Amino acid sequence: MIDLSGRRAIVTGAASGIGRATAELFAELGAAVVLADVDTDRGEQAAKELGATFVLCDVSRREDCARLVAAAVELHGGVDVLFNNAGIIRRSTVCEITDEDWDLVMAVNVRSIMVLSGLVIPLMAAQGGGSIVNTGSGWGIKGGARAASYCASKGAVVNLTRAMAIDHGPDNIRVNCVCPGDTATGMLAEEARQLGESVAAFYTDAADRPLGRIGQPLDIARTVAFLASDAAAFVSGAVIAVDGAGTA
Ligand code: NAI
Repeated sequence: MIDLSGRRAIVTGAASGIGRATAELFAELGAAVVLADVDTDRGEQAAKELGATFVLCDVSRREDCARLVAAAVELHGGVDVLFNNAGIIRRSTVCEITDEDWDLVMAVNVRSIMVLSGLVIPLMAAQGGGSIVNTGSGWGIKGGARAASYCASKGAVVNLTRAMAIDHGPDNIRVNCVCPGDTATGMLAEEARQLGESVAAFYTDAADRPLGRIGQPLDIARTVAFLASDAAAFVSGAVIAVDGAGTA
């Protein structure tokens, strides 16, 4: 049912974790994928393994985003699927965080979605439609400790998704948000580091949810592939938690 053959996709944050797993699944399902990331080594390696293309892109920089979209159009002739997934976290309260870190989290996690989608939507509209998936978080649905900028950014991603779905539905562009729970990626280890906790203890805590385990990148990728595909033809403006009932 989930078939992406002939679809041309851009995945951001594709060098590792959820983005990497999704790029791989997209390729397996037949899509032509452009991987974008700031990590050239891992991005190039992933693209090589998938038979895809890597473009160095800092999603917080408009000129990089424009270069990414231009590269995708030059390579594949258009964009059918945009997965806005790149993200960063700063584990701090509003008393602890610097203005610079606040702005960086908002630029990478939220503004990038505005910039990239703003570049891609006119192309999708001209070709008759497309699918955009944004990565939110369980912390876009509820709050969390010492992650004020991240919670603010992911709450914004959730409602930005709804606003975009309303604005661009008439052009047959679907916009949805996937909200992962704790997932075994570099981000989780980075959070443990920022909080001064052991990664093992962090993982154990993260597994404390009704399904009794932490998420794997492929758990999230499967939902993204569904949302990207025609199997989700009438799904738009949806916010889907993939978190083992963690936010339930
Ligand atoms: P990850 O750290 O493995 O992957 C994030 C990727 O984004 C990295 O390859 C990194 O180089 C890239 N990146 C960072 N800043 C960038 C920038 N400015 N431009 C382009 N690429 C950039 O982490 P993960 O978990 O795969 O994160 C993917 C998304 O999932 C993020 O939006 C994150 O907030 C979200 N998420 C992750 C959860 C988790 O527990 N791992 C839970 C909920 C949401």
